[in-house]
Amino acid sequence: MKLVILGGGGFRVPLVYGALLGDTGKPRVEEVVLHDVSTERLRAIEHVLARQAARHGRDLPVRTTTDLDDAVAGADFVFSAIRVGGLDGRTADERVALDHGLLGQETTGPGGIAYGLRTVPVAMHVAERVAALAPDAWVINFTNPAGMITEAMRGVLGDRVVGICDSPIGLIRRACAALGLDPARATPGYVGLNHLGWLRGLTYDGRDVLPDLLADDHALQQVEEGRIFGADWVRTLGALPNEYLYYYYFNRESVAALGRQTRGEALLGQQDRFYTEVCEHPSRALEVWERTRRERDQSYMADTRDITDAGERDAVDLAAGGYEGIALALMAAIARGEPSTMILNVRNGAAVPGLPADAVVEIPCSVTGAGIRPLATEPLPGRFLGLVQQVKAVEQTTIEAALTRSPRLAVAAFALHPLVDSVSVARRLFEDYRARIPSFAAVFDA
Ligand code: G6P
Ligand code: MN
Repeated sequence: MKLVILGGGGFRVPLVYGALLGDTGKPRVEEVVLHDVSTERLRAIEHVLARQAARHGRDLPVRTTTDLDDAVAGADFVFSAIRVGGLDGRTADERVALDHGLLGQETTGPGGIAYGLRTVPVAMHVAERVAALAPDAWVINFTNPAGMITEAMRGVLGDRVVGICDSPIGLIRRACAALGLDPARATPGYVGLNHLGWLRGLTYDGRDVLPDLLADDHALQQVEEGRIFGADWVRTLGALPNEYLYYYYFNRESVAALGRQTRGEALLGQQDRFYTEVCEHPSRALEVWERTRRERDQSYMADTRDITDAGERDAVDLAAGGYEGIALALMAAIARGEPSTMILNVRNGAAVPGLPADAVVEIPCSVTGAGIRPLATEPLPGRFLGLVQQVKAVEQTTIEAALTRSPRLAVAAFALHPLVDSVSVARRLFEDYRARIPSFAAVFDA
């Protein structure tokens, strides 16, 4: 099978390649094509992958290209993991919002809307090229904001595009570890949108064990979400929230902490050093990547953990199997018919009552050789449903704004977001993003 990775010069590509090297099933990926807009980044990642293959003792050919059509033609699977505007764009997404006293974050709040606005047109172009040149390919979308981008690409690719995120499975693994249970045997009642969901139940041997976890102070302390949200709040909710909900439930604290330094700002120097060092010392490429990856994983959501004294990241989080594990399991389920239940970003249909049928939601799905089937979820009480409905409306307004290149709808998307407190601030956000980020301006100047 031919696998194409868009954003192939990205830092996490070696995770995927490592997982492919270890894949022994049949059919499996026999050819990898990396596409990126930056030849320098492609070259650096190529060095890392070459060392990985040598260490593993397997030859899995890698080709690089900056030509999108050349990359996708005849692909069986396309992983889309692009970052339109690069890390500079992310940093501006975050900083502009903070300048207005609002949350400055990659995917949540105004930063996520700005990121979505400039990413949708590029993602649509990708979808069109895949539809033309690899009509039978499956597209696995990692590109953030993942729910919104998957929903936009569905307009061209329909059920052939599915979005993934590592945060729900991370939460479930942590919950299971705290209870001493095997996550592979648990059935999670996870429901919501990407980066906006809750674990509302956890069935094990036919019984819901989530109430046991919520009632147990000691066990909750072992789950990062238990520590950051606090036992009292998760009991009040009756659910374990996705870690990204910290930005809603503890918005002031997040704004204060991120205002000192955003995640994008923290990563800027590290990222530059990584690409430079690898290109200058290709023989050390894998060691440099491994060191940088440890630093990056350790510091992930460090602000949230600092505010709440939640301590270091859990070992279960740092263990392998995040994005690459999900992507590989999904590919295996589709290509080999190895059935699997996984939490994916898919068309709602009737699975989550109260959300539009065409909305992309993040819920458990059954995946087989025949395709992906979303599983029905328990109706959401108002304290959850109100938020997902509002944020889904914002996502859909953002998609519409980007597709029609409408400043008025873009302002509406900002203004309707629950973390934006004034329509006049929404107007200023739009103007500031337009002035600060060339790829954002390009959407509306076209
Ligand atoms: C998690 C989320 C991704 C997000 C990433 C950011 O993996 O699920 O959606 O992009 O974290 O990590 P970073 O190290 O770039 O801050
Ligand atoms: Mn994610």
